[in-house]
Amino acid sequence: MCESLVSPDYSQTAIDAQKPLKLGIMASGSGSNFAAIATAISNNVLPAQVQVVIYNNPGAKVAERAQEQGIPTKLINHRDYQSRERFDQEVVAALKAADVDWVIMVGWMRRATQVLVDAFPRRMLNIHPSLLPNFPGIHAIEQALDYGVKISGCTVHIVTLEVDSGPILMQAAVPVLPDDTADTLHARVQVQEHRIIVDAIAKLAQDQAT
Ligand code: GAR
Repeated sequence: MCESLVSPDYSQTAIDAQKPLKLGIMASGSGSNFAAIATAISNNVLPAQVQVVIYNNPGAKVAERAQEQGIPTKLINHRDYQSRERFDQEVVAALKAADVDWVIMVGWMRRATQVLVDAFPRRMLNIHPSLLPNFPGIHAIEQALDYGVKISGCTVHIVTLEVDSGPILMQAAVPVLPDDTADTLHARVQVQEHRIIVDAIAKLAQDQAT
C-alpha cells in the first residue's frame, strides 16, 4: 500500500542532541501515541524524557501504560472544575511543577484555553487523525469516510486556541480503502501517527541542539 510522506525522518539525526527535551504528555484515552514516544526514548532514538503524563479521564489506559514504566502521572478530571480556565490553570500548575519544556497532546480531547496557550506559547504540539485543516474535532475519521475522501492521514501541529488548528509541522497521508470502516482506517492512520509524532519531537530536539 502506498503511503506518501510529507516529512523526512528526523529520528536518527536527533540522537546526538545534547540535552534531552523535557516533555509533558497530555492524553485522554488509550495512549498508543504516548507508548510510541516512550518506546523511541527507551530505544535511544529520541533525546527526550517524559516528566509527567496528565490525563483527564479516570481509568484511561494511558495512565496504566505510563505507570508501568515508572513515569509520573497526574489525573486532573475536568468534571471537577467549574470552568475551562480553572481546569487549565490546574493543568498548567502540574506541567510547571514537573519542569516541562514542551507539551505534547496525544489524544487530549479538550479545547485549550488562553490560560494554557499563554503558559506554553508555541511550545505545545497536538496530533490529529486527519490532514488538517480538513476534519478538525473529535469525529475526524468518521467525517473523512462520510465525505468519501480517497486520501486521509494525520497531522502534527502547534496548538492554538482553535480546536485542532495551528501551524503544521508534519503530515502523513494514508489512502482510504473502499471497504474501510472507522476502525480499520483509524488503525492505519495510527501507524503513521506513531511515526510522525516521534519525528516531530525529534525535529524539536534537533532544532534545540543547533
Ligand atoms: C489519536 O488518533 C489522535 O490523533 C486523536 O486521538 C487519538 C488518540 O489515540 N486525537 C484527536 O482526535 C484530537 N482531536 P491514542 O490514545 O491511542 O494515542
